[in-house]
Parts: sequence; C-alpha cells; structure tokens
Amino acid sequence: MTQAIPATLIPGDGIGPEIVDATLAALDALGAPFEWDRQVAGLAGVQVAGDPLPAETLASIRRTRLALKGPLETPSGGGYRSSNVRLREEFKLYANLRPARTLIPGGRFDKIDLVVVRENLEGLYIGHEHFVQIDDDPHAVAMATGINPRAGSRRLLEFAFQHAVATGRKKVTIVHKANIMKALTGIFLETGLELYERKYKGQFVLDTVIIDACAMKLVLNPWQFDMLVTTNLFGDILSDLVAGLVGGLGMTPGANIGTDAAIFEAVHGSAPDIAGKGIANPIALMLATAMMLDHCRLPDLALRLRNGINDALNVDNVRTGDLGGKASTSEFTKALVSRIANS
Ligand code: NAI
Repeated sequence: MTQAIPATLIPGDGIGPEIVDATLAALDALGAPFEWDRQVAGLAGVQVAGDPLPAETLASIRRTRLALKGPLETPSGGGYRSSNVRLREEFKLYANLRPARTLIPGGRFDKIDLVVVRENLEGLYIGHEHFVQIDDDPHAVAMATGINPRAGSRRLLEFAFQHAVATGRKKVTIVHKANIMKALTGIFLETGLELYERKYKGQFVLDTVIIDACAMKLVLNPWQFDMLVTTNLFGDILSDLVAGLVGGLGMTPGANIGTDAAIFEAVHGSAPDIAGKGIANPIALMLATAMMLDHCRLPDLALRLRNGINDALNVDNVRTGDLGGKASTSEFTKALVSRIANS
C-alpha cells in the first residue's frame, strides 16, 4: 500500500468547488494516496476567515509543502492583492510550468505539444506601483517598477533547461523584449544564452524570439515551438494564448514549483459567469492533478488519469460546453470515473 501523502486542498472561488469535487472523484477512483487538509483563500478566505490568505492556510502549506488549488478571485483595480501572487512569494514558487497538449484531435490546431515555463516571482509583477497626483487628479500618472535579478533569471532558466532535458524536449525558445526593455528583459536573455553555452549546449537547440513576433508565430505555426521560457508578464499572456491553441482555458494545467513548496492549479480563473451552473470543464484542474501525481513520483496514476480523460473525451465523446459538447461537469466526471475504474 502506498504511503499517505499529506497535501493542502484549497477549493477556491467561483467554479473552484465544482471542479475540485470532480477532481476528487477521479482521484478516489484512482485510489490516489493524498491526505487532504482543506483550507480557504481568495474570496472564500475573506468570507470565512476575514482574510484572502488566512494564517491557517499558509501554515498548512508550510507543513505539507504540497497543494492543489482551485481558482481564487482577485478584485480588479482596488481591493486586496492577489492571493495567488502572495502564495508564490510566500513559498518562493519561482517556476510556473504550463504544458499545453491537444486532447481533441482534428481541431484548428492539431497535435500541439508545447510547454511554457514562466518566471513567477519577479519582473513587472512585484507590485511596486503608484500614482502621481497632478493638480486635482490623484491618478494623473501611473508608475510601475519591474525587477529581474540575474540570480532569479538564472534559477528559472536552470529549471527550464533541466526540465527540457529530463522530458526530452528538442528545442527551447527564450522569449524577450530586449530590443526595447534592454535592461529588464535583456538580463533574462543574456543569462539564458550564457547558461546554455556553459552547461547545456548540444542537449537541445536554443532559440530566441521577441515577444510580439512570438505571439504572431504561435498563431501562424505553433508547431515550430517546443518549449517557451520567459519572464513573468510575457509568460502569463503567452500561456493563455497557448491555452487557446488546445481548446481554451478549460484544458490547460499549471504547476508552481519552488524551493519551499509546489502548488498545482488550473491556468483559468474562477469563471464567475458560469459558477454554480454545473457546466464548468474540470479537465484543466484534473491535468494539474496529473502533474501533481508525477511530482509525487506516482507516474502510473498520472498516466491512468490522463488516459481516462482522453477516453472520456474521444471514445465516449462526453464533452462540456466550452469544448462544443453538451455534458455537465458531473456527466463528464461520471464518464471519467468509469474509464478509470476499468483501467
Ligand atoms: P476566467 O479564466 O475565470 O474566465 C475567462 C473565460 O473562460 C470565462 O468566459 C469563463 O467562463 C471561461 N472559463 C474559464 N475556465 C473555464 C472552465 N473550466 N470551463 C469552462 N469555461 C471556463 O478569467 P476572468 O474572468 O478574467 O477572471 C475571473 C476571476 O478569476 C478574477 O477574479 C481573476 O482575478 C481570477 N483568476 C484567478 C486565477 C487563479 O486563481 N489562478 C487565474 C486567472 C484569473
């Protein structure tokens, strides 16, 4: 019998609890050995504990060093700071790994198999922002500061290059804007080129591309890329673009890996427009759970989960609305659970 693995579970906001329930049903069918400690964060944290990131939630992750997280709502403009960003900072989750693979063949972009590795802690996301008042306009000028230390860039690039070697990726492309933001993104490019020459040359092909050209190339011919590695803001935008190539946000998982913990989640948000309707696609969170199983060295369970998803989608043809189907979250989950039970 596999030893129990303590892990923190944050159901999250909006569609979070619905897709978390679906994912737990799949894990039950697999007999996955997670021992969950349920905690709240985001809007649920504010409602239940008066804090978007309660101390008990942080203490739980500090203890388990492993978490599965539903999406957390963040107010735009004013309000509290993103609990996601705070979790990344708290546990130094410096690498964000976002694989995107075509699961339903025959679409506009077939046979996509791409990984985006995003720097998760630095750049323009550090939240050093302020307004400058002019005359009677308190928001007359907005200012933001980005920071990219060489050590942070090197740590992330090292993670990406090691992952490329470990998973047999043939080509890694560094995405930057060093022609305009010569210091902020130039340091990332320079560090990547130096690290490749010194340690990784010959193990895969290294290429570089400017972010705007990259966005165009991804739409014209995404198959020319294998792994993209980039700074925080560019990675955030590109991973959503890449999600669109494989059927939308409902299909793309993310792993936040750091020195102190690993937190697994869907790339999408809380989808307030469809929350409570029972129609959300749970696949992104389920694929994040497959990454979590791989991370816990349970690749057989991860494979059964991925195969079950594939069969439910393509053999049983059970698909939620975002994938052009009519199935509810629970109908998809039922098909998946029965596939897993027979695998
Ligand atoms: P969103 O990803 O929640 O929704 C964008 C669109 O995609 C919506 O039309 C939604 O219905 C659809 N969608 C998303 N996930 C889906 C799924 N699993 N199945 C079917 N359709 C799905 O992005 P939005 O609306 O910009 O953000 C909503 C909230 O989520 C905000 O408060 C935002 O801050 C938060 N958010 C949280 C994230 C996280 O916790 N990691 C990531 C992104 C946003």
